[in-house]
Parts: sequence; structure tokens; C-alpha cells
Amino acid sequence: MSEIRGWLTESESSALAKISRGKIVLEVGSFCGKSTITMAKTAVKVYALDWHKGDIIVDKSNSGNDTLPEFRQNLHDANIQNVVPLVGRTQDLFDVLGNGWADVAFIDGCHLEESVRADIELAKRCLKSSGLIALHDWDREQVRRAFLDLMGADSVSLIVDSLMISKPIGAKGIGMSVVMREDLLTEIACLDQQLTNHVAAKRKAEDDIVAVNGAMQMAQHLLKKINDREAVVKQAKDFKAGTETMAAAEAAEAAEEDSKKLQEEMRQAREASLAQTNGEPAKTE
Ligand SMILES: C[S@@+](CC[C@H](N)C(=O)[O-])C[C@H]1O[C@@H](n2cnc3c(N)ncnc32)[C@H](O)[C@@H]1O
Repeated sequence: MSEIRGWLTESESSALAKISRGKIVLEVGSFCGKSTITMAKTAVKVYALDWHKGDIIVDKSNSGNDTLPEFRQNLHDANIQNVVPLVGRTQDLFDVLGNGWADVAFIDGCHLEESVRADIELAKRCLKSSGLIALHDWDREQVRRAFLDLMGADSVSLIVDSLMISKPIGAKGIGMSVVMREDLLTEIACLDQQLTNHVAAKRKAEDDIVAVNGAMQMAQHLLKKINDREAVVKQAKDFKAGTETMAAAEAAEAAEEDSKKLQEEMRQAREASLAQTNGEPAKTE
């Protein structure tokens, strides 16, 4: 799985796979699916919550880019079919997800204290009393502070690299087991599919615009070439007309010369004839 982007170490992956075996998992923060796939390989089902736009402030994950297509592609490539993507923010989905249905909540969302607190509150709500919290980035002070404040130091069971695994949350959770709102989850999945279709349609429209722009540029280029060619042809025509005019003028000039010569010859002939008539010897030129 090394080609999937993410930050889990091998030991963290093994620990997550172990606690997910045969369980229903809520994941907060899926990114490109590295942890999701790790858990889905052993879990019954993974509900993978992420708004797929990175962290609001500390965006180490993806600079605000949409990771949903990559997430989906990675699930597809790994042939994973027991993951339900919950596309949205923790705070937006809090009221939708119901109480007491999850065995494991893996939290790896935004690492600011306030966000981690919100994620833990969501986990407490969704987990059965026998459920566990697995919290990533335990080495970050804000992450630790949020957990210790809400759950207490006695809730910590195990730490693997920077993954903390809690004891069963017991009475610290909501404690009631209410069936999860499957109807709302179906609606989310439906909206998620619509969103995916819209994103695909938008991408296609963008591609079409790029293609049309390319064709327009090519047409403009060809039009310019035609205009340039026409200008050259006009120049050639003008030049030809110019040379024809010059030749005609030269011919006219030559004809005028000839005519002058003829007139002169005629004048001389007339003079010669007059001289003969008057008995003068004919002049010879
Ligand atoms: C550190 S990454 C998760 C890494 C992932 N678990 C893995 O192993 O590859 C954090 C993720 O949390 C998501 N996130 C941040 N704030 C969120 C919020 N308020 N609601 C839902 N997702 C959030 C981000 O979009 C990002 O994909």
C-alpha cells in the first residue's frame, strides 16, 4: 500500500488492522484512503468521514485540493467494498450519525485542539460503551490535550508510534444504543453520488472548453495565414500590373519615335519631290 499517500507507519497500520477485525468502524479523516483501506481489510464495515478539502488552517494534507476522486480510485484499485464514504465535515454530520453503533472510532482529522475535541465528541456519540477510540498524531500537544481533557489519562491503553488506542469508553460515551439512521446515511450516499456526477460533468465541461479554445486558436492561426497569403498574392498582382503598365509606356514611346521618324522621312520625300518639280537637282541626304 506504499503508493497510497498518507502518514501511517507499518506498526500503526498493523495496530489499526488488529483493532478493526470483525468490527464496525467510524473513521474521521480518510484523506486518500490509506488508513481506510487498512481497516476495511479486516473490518465488517468502515464509515469513512472526510470533507476531502484538507485542514482548514494546518493544511499538511492537500492544500485544499479535492481528495475524493483519489480516495475513490484507491478503494476501487484495492477492491474494497465495505466502505461507506461520508462526505462532509464532522460538525455537519454530528446530528446525522446516530448513537452507540460503532466498535472503533479512528480519529485523524484536523489536528487543532478544537477540531480534535469535536471529533472525539462525535466518536463518544457513535461508539458503543465497549467501543475504542484510536487517535492519530498523539505526539501533537493539541491532540493529546483534547483527549486527556475529555476522556482522562486513565482512558489511554496503548501507544504505537504516534497512534494512541484507548480503553473501552464505557460510561464516558453516550451509553445508549440507538440504531443508526440508515435512511440518512442512504441520503448522504445518494447526495455524494450526485456530487460525484456533478464534479465529473464539470470536469468534462472544462475539458470541452479547453478543446473549443484550442480549436478557436487554431482557426485564428489559419485565418491569419490565409490573410498573409492573400496580401502576398495582392502584392504580386500589383507588381505584375505595374510592370505591364511600364511595358505599355515603353511601347508607346517607341511607337511615337517610329512615327516621328516616318514623319521626317515623309517631309524629306516631299521636299525632294518639290525640288525635282522646280528643276533643282535632287538632294541626296
Ligand atoms: C491527516 S489527514 C488523514 C490521513 C488519513 N487518515 C491517512 O491515514 O492517510 C486529515 C484529513 O482530515 C480531513 N478533515 C480536516 N478537517 C475536517 C473536518 N472538519 N471534517 C471532516 N474532515 C476533515 C482532511 O480533509 C484530511 O483529508
